[in-house]
Amino acid sequence: PNTPLICPSILASDFAKLGEEIRALEAAGADWIHVDVMDGHFVPNITIGPDVVKALRPHTRLPFDVHLMVAPVDPWIEAYHAAGADILTVHPESGPHLHRTLGRIRQLGAKAGIVLNPGTPLSILEEVVEMVDLVLLMSVNPGFGGQSFIPSTLKKIERARAILDAAGSSAHLQIDGGVTALNAGACVAAGADALVAGTAVFKGGPDAYAANIAAIKAAK
Ligand code: DX5
Ligand code: ZN
Repeated sequence: PNTPLICPSILASDFAKLGEEIRALEAAGADWIHVDVMDGHFVPNITIGPDVVKALRPHTRLPFDVHLMVAPVDPWIEAYHAAGADILTVHPESGPHLHRTLGRIRQLGAKAGIVLNPGTPLSILEEVVEMVDLVLLMSVNPGFGGQSFIPSTLKKIERARAILDAAGSSAHLQIDGGVTALNAGACVAAGADALVAGTAVFKGGPDAYAANIAAIKAAK
């Protein structure tokens, strides 16, 4: 299989030094910056608003991959896009009209992603496969970093890969939650091409970021 894109989740970074952290990630070989947006309502945690994304934008040329764990999500799409998000990824549970939400994201000129929780059926993807540039499968229940990878995700990755291939879609298939060098190879073998990692990238501090990213990228 091919080398996956590595998308460090800044949820695991030092929030007192976010600009520095993002520059360090770019220097360490990150492909995208994964921004976890949590509202204390859709998920039991509060993180990063659009003003923070805007403040970070000048610190890197890497794409901002913004994972919106916010309900209702529609009122926030424009603000995160204006703040500099390149990819906006939404949960189907975060609004009543998924198809319309994905259409609005693309209309703004951003890339549209759909994200499915461990308990959310994959079948919804079939209804919107032509509207998405990215499919994110959660391998933990969202809300916090540092949780363990749910092993049944591997079968779901294979099934998602089959749906994308059958539709002739070139959308990315991204995995998020508990990804480490120990399970990254299996994710890629199952059909993933982009991996989010928080804990596994940030462990050991800035001097270790490059080696941590390389280890996940090279994992078999
Ligand atoms: C969970 C977030 C993840 C999380 C990943 O709600 O969507 O992006 O921060 O962190 P780790 O890699 O530590 O599981
Ligand atoms: Zn995430």
